[in-house]
Amino acid sequence: MTQQVWSSESYDRNARFVSELGDGVAEWLAPVAGERILDIGCGDGALTEELSKSGATLVGFEQAPDFAASARARGLTVHEGDAHKLPFSAEFDAVFSNAALHWMLDPQAVADGIAKALKPGGRFVAEFGGHGNVAAIVTAMRAVCRYRQGDEALACPWYFPSPDAYARVLERAGFAVRRITLIPRPTPLPTGMAAWLSVFRQPFFDQFGEGREDALADVLSLLEPNLKDDDGRWTADYVRLRVEAHKK
Ligand code: BEZ
Repeated sequence: MTQQVWSSESYDRNARFVSELGDGVAEWLAPVAGERILDIGCGDGALTEELSKSGATLVGFEQAPDFAASARARGLTVHEGDAHKLPFSAEFDAVFSNAALHWMLDPQAVADGIAKALKPGGRFVAEFGGHGNVAAIVTAMRAVCRYRQGDEALACPWYFPSPDAYARVLERAGFAVRRITLIPRPTPLPTGMAAWLSVFRQPFFDQFGEGREDALADVLSLLEPNLKDDDGRWTADYVRLRVEAHKK
């Protein structure tokens, strides 16, 4: 299996910090009561629900059925679909996204759809993996791939742009970029690196079949000297790209 599969339960256990770290980008969004806001890649809806406490009406958009079901269980409205083909037209005051856009490999299609979904003057505020994100983790997977003769593309199926590159994507979609920045964010992993890899990169290890566990041990041993501290705590080398842009 080379496809990413999402489990709401496993994400909640091993990656809850993702929505908990969304406060900074939520401040950039600054939702206002009465606004209609689309949350792309809303996941299980934890952050979407927080944002709705502002009095704005949040609409979730999510591809993974398990996540969409969890978000609906919170009472949220959620559209299921592929964000490369957003079906909205001039109906949102703002579009928001946290920790999702790096999974979408045609950023221009996504940005064009976001621009179309916004009312004139509407804003787009997002945070996701930026240039250099999880660089050590990806490099360790690539190294293991080389000596185990695996498919290196499975080590990094993500889009981690620099601010300049992403600003160009947004400008082509008809946005004026107000602010855009990279934020290095070493992130403690409460359940460890093996759990992070199993939530986010299982397809990489599955390619080795019965050698799966040995490949995992190799990746962990390459990462240990830099990402595991003296007390056994793991940290992921996250780098965020945060952006605010306005539809012209
Ligand atoms: C991130 O949030 O940066 C991320 C999450 C999973 C895989 C890769 C990156």
